[in-house]
Amino acid sequence: MLQINGDNVKSHLLLILCAITLSTAELHKDTQTKKFPDGFLFGASTSAYQIEGAWNVDGKSENIWDHITHKIPCFLSNCDTGDVAANSYYLYKRDVEMMRELGLDFYRFSISWTRILPTSFPDKINEAGKNYYNNLINEMLKYNITPMVTLYHGDLPQKLQQIGGWTNPEVSKWFSDYARVAFELFGDRVKHWFTLNEPKETCNQDYATGFRDLSGIADYLCAKNVLLAHGKAYEVYNNEFRASQNGNVGIVVSVKWYEPETEKEIDAAEDVAIFEWGQFIHPIFSETGDFPKKMKERIAKKSAEQGFPSSRLPNFSPEEVELVRGSADFFGLNHYSTCIAYRNESINGLYESPSYHDDMNVITYTPNDWKSTESASTNVSWGFYKVLTKIRNDYGNPPIYITENGFNSEIGGILDDNRMSYLKSYLNAMLDAISEGSDIRLYSIWSLMDNFEWGTGYKSKYGLYEVNYTSGKFERVPRKSAYFYRNVLKTRVLDINFEPDMSVPICEEN
Ligand code: NOJ
Repeated sequence: MLQINGDNVKSHLLLILCAITLSTAELHKDTQTKKFPDGFLFGASTSAYQIEGAWNVDGKSENIWDHITHKIPCFLSNCDTGDVAANSYYLYKRDVEMMRELGLDFYRFSISWTRILPTSFPDKINEAGKNYYNNLINEMLKYNITPMVTLYHGDLPQKLQQIGGWTNPEVSKWFSDYARVAFELFGDRVKHWFTLNEPKETCNQDYATGFRDLSGIADYLCAKNVLLAHGKAYEVYNNEFRASQNGNVGIVVSVKWYEPETEKEIDAAEDVAIFEWGQFIHPIFSETGDFPKKMKERIAKKSAEQGFPSSRLPNFSPEEVELVRGSADFFGLNHYSTCIAYRNESINGLYESPSYHDDMNVITYTPNDWKSTESASTNVSWGFYKVLTKIRNDYGNPPIYITENGFNSEIGGILDDNRMSYLKSYLNAMLDAISEGSDIRLYSIWSLMDNFEWGTGYKSKYGLYEVNYTSGKFERVPRKSAYFYRNVLKTRVLDINFEPDMSVPICEEN
């Protein structure tokens, strides 16, 4: 029998501690080093409005962000705009140099629709815009860095916005016409295409849509139209380019993990997942296609109770279901954080009715002990593991591209240890999912460098490289996390204990 003396108490405590550690390890098998699979690719992501600047030069016309930030001078509380951003329109060679310093396999950037097509339509191609992207792509290819291109990343032409933007049923045609131009101009060299970035944010959050006034109607019209836009662009690629260009096309969806507050809340957590990402994933990746059944039934029932003659969620015709179903060669997945979900009586009257949130009928929050003063990013990497596991189980283990994952700091500076620990935990969680069978092909960090963040401007810093916005020169300086990421790419191993030596300049090591 166990004698309770000092030593025994210690070993007893140790046993308990081990048990706790083990149960965490079951979920999140921490080891010191882990190898990435052969052929696994690493990259970094950015988007046009967030880095390019040059908002009104060389024939580019206005997009929704150009418009709103000039129409309402302090649209963001700190009055930031993307007018100059990280000045990448002029500094693209330095950007490619950074990619080389890091040893990136690929770089994911987006094309600005209005830089290529100032009228929004293919009647006039802007030569300067075309040249800019050609130069960037060619510079990357010179150093064997694979270009991966997003066609739409938050910057709709303002002219299209004025005629309803993503709520206008014609938008799917306008988008697929633009996609055709991009495939024609760059598809000889670009073999990885992302049609739309984060459709949920486009439809439910984007500032300039005016959707907020019509939530529960306009956001659903938008959802249908972005899915059709994606489906049509995929069809254009299949019918007109796939045979000669032999690339692949997918979409990028943001997938947060919602953890039920208690076991009783599993249904609530499942509902947020259905409304937030199921809305976009199910039509493309499920066997049946279409919006998720539960979402359709819930909105139809509520709409009837509210006196609407038909559901506020638009129908897809059988042909549209087929156009969208299966329209992706891979699943582009952005993941940043985890929240808690629950529902109880306090929800009554909480949300305006009708609205998307009222239809979803769930409360979500971030627990205080997950938050930090530095950042809105929470380091809860088990949520990433759970997301990846759920996608594998629910959607037949599609090939996954992690198109974004990253850490936001409001403090900045070069010594970004918190970003480094975030990356270590999230890469570790991803490797756990891979070891259990998830078909994850690549990982891309957000972001290569600091850039304009939607909603917060330059206050939020996501970069492996710090950008100096005050010198007028926009110098890019590698952070500690850049040295860490570089080591991962060089060794193809995740070493939880790796501590970068920043005394050796990153460029000299290459
Ligand atoms: C996802 C978006 O795609 C990107 O534009 C944004 O900057 C990051 N999230 C960080 O919020």
